[in-house]
Amino acid sequence: MPLKAKHLLGIRDLSAEQIQLILDTAESFREISTRPIKKVPTLRGKSVINLFFEASTRTRTSFEIAAKRLSADAINISASTSSVVKGETLVDMARNLQAMAPDVIVIRHSSSGAPHQLARICDAAIVNAGDGAHEHPTQALLDALTILDRKKRLAGLRVAIVGDVAHSRVARSNCLLLGKMGAQVRVCAPPTLLPLGFERTFDLLQPMEHPGTLWVTHDMQQALADADVVMMLRIQLERQHEAFFPSVREYFRFYGLSAERMQAAKPDAIIMHPGPINRGVEIASDVADGPYSVILDQVTSGVAVRMAVLFLLAGGSKEETGA
Ligand code: CP
Repeated sequence: MPLKAKHLLGIRDLSAEQIQLILDTAESFREISTRPIKKVPTLRGKSVINLFFEASTRTRTSFEIAAKRLSADAINISASTSSVVKGETLVDMARNLQAMAPDVIVIRHSSSGAPHQLARICDAAIVNAGDGAHEHPTQALLDALTILDRKKRLAGLRVAIVGDVAHSRVARSNCLLLGKMGAQVRVCAPPTLLPLGFERTFDLLQPMEHPGTLWVTHDMQQALADADVVMMLRIQLERQHEAFFPSVREYFRFYGLSAERMQAAKPDAIIMHPGPINRGVEIASDVADGPYSVILDQVTSGVAVRMAVLFLLAGGSKEETGA
């Protein structure tokens, strides 16, 4: 079944059916990464450019691995080693890359809307790998795949998203995806890290597109009560240009995830974090490394989701997966 989308710019643009198609395709690709030879010819002859203007470990590596496992040619470009340092603009750079006829360009950029700008001028499929504080769609998709693996459903689940919501593209994409798939989302942050009217931005979606519920609180105990999933967000010090909380110690006291605080959630609740973790700031080490943590499962799911996204956008043949 086709995705019926040329680009993946955000979860906001996807229907529940498109999200389900990506998740089903990712699930079918999981097994390839467990084979002794982790490679299928599905995207042979296709080329994927990974264009990263911001630091990344998980997203960049998993897009490269995903492309290579599907036999696409993967080309990695960092802003620091490109002609951006000589003053080339994003638009000029994109036009030059397009002249080399890539099939997919994956872009991470500190400016919200940078992938949308590329989509307007490139023939290649554009994938948003994180744009400013706007969206990180493949993170939300890999989070959903991880939740499905453990909980077998998204609809009706109680999901607490806690932390630096103001600067988090992960929070935005997850709120959109979980809402579209019928989950109950509780968003929790200190007042300084929760934009006023955050919940109303999700009310703008039609009820049919957003069957779940979303509410906000500053009280972590309330957010975690009977939660099935606790998703912690990284404190994004690189995007904070003023003091949003008095001290790390104070922040952890009210919004850090400890084993004691987890007792408010369901006994089988899973703990998620997109990484990189600030240990002892938003999450205690024993919780991050404990039995309910699925943080490394999220990373594993990331390869399958990115294989699915590249496959669906670059138009590979499923017959060639050998699955
Ligand atoms: N979750 C995530 O986007 O991690 P990276 O910044 O390492 O890619």
